[in-house]
Amino acid sequence: MSSRLPAVLSRAFNPSANGARCSDMIGRLNHVGIATPSIEQSWKLYLDVLGATKVTEKRALPEQGVWVSFVELPNAQIELIEPYGDNSPITAFLEKNPRGGQHHVCFEVPDILVARDEMRAKGATVLGTGEPRIGAHGVPVIFVHPKDMGGVLVELMAEPQGHHP
Ligand code: CO
Repeated sequence: MSSRLPAVLSRAFNPSANGARCSDMIGRLNHVGIATPSIEQSWKLYLDVLGATKVTEKRALPEQGVWVSFVELPNAQIELIEPYGDNSPITAFLEKNPRGGQHHVCFEVPDILVARDEMRAKGATVLGTGEPRIGAHGVPVIFVHPKDMGGVLVELMAEPQGHHP
């Protein structure tokens, strides 16, 4: 099918064709970040109500001020995040949304530094110093301010090597 499409459309529909990809194009949706006052309570929702079959162990990321656990889905993950410590970056979010809620979306990018520089060149605000830090998946991440992203906090993450089939 793609061979009958004009080249530009073909690339749009199949960005990894011929191994080429626009350097500024986001890749897979890796996860949706969900803030919650209780990961254990959220497990009940995702496992018992929604029927997910696998969650990862709850673990602390003290440097990021969160507890984290992943709900494994066939095509992506739900990243459950609960405040850890007194200065958690999601405390204010939970004050506004006491039952929790969607906090961010995370897309994979081929090169985190290229992505950061392109975000800035396009006028988007990269949070913090802009130096990528190691995220919950063990690969570098940056965050882009929701004011420039249609109200959505966007996490960009270096593609995990060997993560996908
Ligand atoms: Co995340």
